[in-house]
Amino acid sequence: MKFDLNQLLRPNIRGLKPYRSARDDFKSGILLDANENPASPGIEHALNLNRYPDPHYELLRNRISEIKEAIKPEQIFLGNGSDEAIDLLIRMFCTPGHDKILITPPTYGMYKVSADIHGIETVEAPLLPDFSLDADSVLSKTDGVKIIFLCSPNNPTANRLQESEIRRVIEGFSGIVVVDEAYIDFSRDKSLLPLLAEHPNLVVMQTLSKAWGLAGIRLGMAFASTEIINYMMRVKPPYNVNSLTQDAALKALGNPNQTQRAIESILSERDRVAKSLEQMDGVIRVEESDANFLLVRVKNAPDVYRKLAKLGVIVRYRGDQLHCENGLRITIGLPEENDALLDAMEQLTISN
Ligand SMILES: Cc1ncc(COP(=O)(O)O)c(C=O)c1O
Repeated sequence: MKFDLNQLLRPNIRGLKPYRSARDDFKSGILLDANENPASPGIEHALNLNRYPDPHYELLRNRISEIKEAIKPEQIFLGNGSDEAIDLLIRMFCTPGHDKILITPPTYGMYKVSADIHGIETVEAPLLPDFSLDADSVLSKTDGVKIIFLCSPNNPTANRLQESEIRRVIEGFSGIVVVDEAYIDFSRDKSLLPLLAEHPNLVVMQTLSKAWGLAGIRLGMAFASTEIINYMMRVKPPYNVNSLTQDAALKALGNPNQTQRAIESILSERDRVAKSLEQMDGVIRVEESDANFLLVRVKNAPDVYRKLAKLGVIVRYRGDQLHCENGLRITIGLPEENDALLDAMEQLTISN
């Protein structure tokens, strides 16, 4: 399949003259270029919060490039959560009222919401009832489609998609394929980042919101060819990652061992919670998980959902999603939070 980035981009983006600031060229000196206040309010002087952040977040890109093998800093886009990357990609490639995206329901809701916001049609090629990816079905529905969003491990089903099927989609489609790896650090499968070397139409998204425990700072990552990332950098608002976020992310990324320990503890809790739930009468099945949550099929799911909330345990009802009948999506919390969930489920199972 022939991939031509220039052909794929919206014409207004291809020809876009991006916003430029003097900070694109100079990072230090007597900074009288950006109408900032020379005095800091004194709340966190070390961070220079009176100054705009580095628009190219160079330190962060370098650090991430060190952690992600064989990824150059120029192949990294950072945004206000991966949600910003989703929005940006749709804006770059899809002309409202004309182009389409393709998703594989049941899946993460923001792909379609972002498309809807931009007046872009969403085509659906559902996962099979066992939540596996059907590459043939995807490839048969790509007429007018510019971007295919695949999510692995998938939300809300918790399973990973088979790499061979993902590859078939990437290789059989001449548009952009986004593989959303928000939950990859919890998976038995490895990231598809190495595929970037062979596939110029691939974008891989990851985030600091899950395994890295930093949902509050809003930092999402997109990895792709330098050409695609260059366009993302041109289209993004100039200072889209604020100084507080850059600082917190740098600190966390300096200590990957701590994150690794957190992942291991979530994985062992995931097994414990899954095993306990499986023993309960009211539980029909716990789906296999490669993420930090479980899709649990329970009898009377809407009722259980409401009663759990009354007992102070908030989970997500997903029984209204395709192939997810009776499904509750339950995030793995701290051990004591998981105990509270299991206690509440016990009570409900007995009283139901
Ligand atoms: C599959 C998936 N992708 C992306 C996101 C959003 O991530 P971020 O917090 O980086 O915007 C989520 C959040 O739940 C998600 O489940």
